[in-house]
Order: sequence, then C-alpha cells, then structure tokens
Amino acid sequence: MPDVEYLSYGVVEERDWTLQDAEIFERAAEADLGREDHGRMEVSNQETILDAAEREDLSWSLKCLKGRCGRCSALVVDGEISMDAEQQFLTSEEVESKSLCLPCVSEPETDIKLVYGVRHLDALQDRVK
Ligand code: FES
Repeated sequence: MPDVEYLSYGVVEERDWTLQDAEIFERAAEADLGREDHGRMEVSNQETILDAAEREDLSWSLKCLKGRCGRCSALVVDGEISMDAEQQFLTSEEVESKSLCLPCVSEPETDIKLVYGVRHLDALQDRVK
C-alpha cells in the first residue's frame, strides 16, 4: 500500500516556508507539528487519497468529492498519482507542469509527499466553488 506523507499549506504560510523549498518536509519533521498538520497515512487499493484522509479523521475541507469544486486541491511534491481524467477543475497545465491534484479523485501510484489545502493559492482561490 502506498504511503502518503502530508503537510498543511496553512503551516507553510504561517512559517513563511515556500512550496519551492526542496527541504519543506524535512522542516516539517523537525518542527514537531500536530497530526492534523503533518504526518503519514497508508492508502489502500482503489481508495482515493481523500478517502484515506477521512478514514484517518483528517479534515481537508471536503465538498463535491467529484473533482469539480477544487476545495481539496493539493500539490504533489514527490511521487506519482493517477487522477480521474474527467475531473473538471484543474487545467492540464496545472496538473502536468505545476503538479497539482484533486485528492478526491486521485490515487497514489507510488509513495507520495503532498501539501494539502493549496486552494488558497492565488492561481486557484478565485475558481474554488
Ligand atoms: S472535493 Fe471538490 S474537487 Fe475534490
């Protein structure tokens, strides 16, 4: 089962870290953050990343669960995911060049590192429904 290491974008903003920082997950590990903000979870076969987060009682601001609203937007920092091609929120450039994903319709293909809660990024926040 793939392992997902997650980090809250709220923590990135609060601490003036940047998403381009290659050491961001090392910083998070050293910061001794709470489980809601930083941790790991396993994702079962045919389970979406968001399903696994819900199973772990993590609150990642859910809404449509169908790849339409953008509220669950996340950044894949490392690893590979597969996302439902029918999702209707992210552009192909955002997916391919910016490594954004919608955890409600994405499954990990490998172990991944993911920053959740990026719906507040300038490029997304006006489109989130
Ligand atoms: S919850 Fe709406 S796009 Fe994921």
